[in-house]
Amino acid sequence: MILPIYIYGHPVLRADNATVTPDYPNLKELIENMKETMYHTQGIGIAAPQVGVNARIVYIDVDVLAEDFPELKDVRMVLINPVIDIDEESPAVTREEGCLSVPGIHENVQRHEKIRLRWQDEEFNEHDQIVEGYLARVVQHECDHLDKTLFVDRISPIRKQLIRKKLNNMAKGDVSCSYHCKFAPHNRKK
Ligand code: NI
Repeated sequence: MILPIYIYGHPVLRADNATVTPDYPNLKELIENMKETMYHTQGIGIAAPQVGVNARIVYIDVDVLAEDFPELKDVRMVLINPVIDIDEESPAVTREEGCLSVPGIHENVQRHEKIRLRWQDEEFNEHDQIVEGYLARVVQHECDHLDKTLFVDRISPIRKQLIRKKLNNMAKGDVSCSYHCKFAPHNRKK
């Protein structure tokens, strides 16, 4: 089932996200819905709070970028309870990012190139891997969502000032978007 995407300004994006245990209700269905929603909206990553569920689940499929980044071919990951350790010694690289929850805005974000990623998969098997390059960026972006952080929180103060009005309008539901969006209830556009 395709779910609506919760948009900047909605409190669900700024709420705590719970650790997921194997008895989490309808977990398989939630993950399937996150995948379906992400493909429908043409995203490369999605975090549960973006579909209104405050749980520590991320889905990533970066295969579509394999033309520019051959190492991303067939890379698809369900991350449950991911934990990131950023290698602060690794180079910090600036690249443009966007987000399904912040439609129409793309801004440069600086992130480190290398992380250690620990997570559980859908069967709750433990994984521990070094992740580098573009995938490390996507993982950091998605895991930020689990810690209530959006990429626009990480841009320069000047850029933030320049998009302030757009963000305020977005929070009020005043934004054009090609998929079904869910806005903050008290701000809903008439
Ligand atoms: Ni995002």
